[in-house]
Amino acid sequence: MSTTTIRVNGKPTQVEADPATPLLWVIREHMKLTGTKFGCGIAQCGACTVHVDGEAVRSCVTPVSAVAGKAVTTIEGLSPDGNHRLQKAWIAEQVPQCGYCQSGQIMQAATLLAKNRNPSREEIVRHMDGNICRCGTYQRIVKAIERAAKEA
Ligand code: FES
Ligand code: FES
Repeated sequence: MSTTTIRVNGKPTQVEADPATPLLWVIREHMKLTGTKFGCGIAQCGACTVHVDGEAVRSCVTPVSAVAGKAVTTIEGLSPDGNHRLQKAWIAEQVPQCGYCQSGQIMQAATLLAKNRNPSREEIVRHMDGNICRCGTYQRIVKAIERAAKEA
C-alpha cells in the first residue's frame, strides 16, 4: 500500500492503495463514482473510458500510480450539470438501450470533439471503433456525435 494523490473531476484526492491498483477500481470503489463501468477488464471494450489530461484512457488497465498528479475526468465531471453538448445530443437521439457502455462512449466521443470540431462520419466511426456496445446502438451514437458537433 502507498498513498497516491490524484485529481479527479477537479478535486485533489489521496488514495491508499497498491500502486498497481487499476484506476477504475479507485474511481468506483474508493471514490464511489460508479458512472464508469467495468466491462472486459482487458482494454477491449471501452466501458471504463475516462480522460487523463484530456486523453481517453482505459481505466481498467491504467495503474493508479500512472495518473499521480494528473487530471482525471469521469463521466460525473464531464459537465457540472450533465449538460455537455454530447449528453444533450445523447438524450435527443435517445441513444442508450441498456446504458452500460454509454458513459465510456460519451467520454471517448468527447475527446474527438475536443480536437476536431467538425468530424466526418468516417472520422467518428474510426474514433469510436474500440468502444463496444452489445446492444448495437452504434448508428444512434454516430448521429448523436454529429448533432453535438453542429452545436459547437
Ligand atoms: S473494462 Fe476497460 S476496456 Fe473493457
Ligand atoms: S447500450 Fe447496452 S451495451 Fe451499449
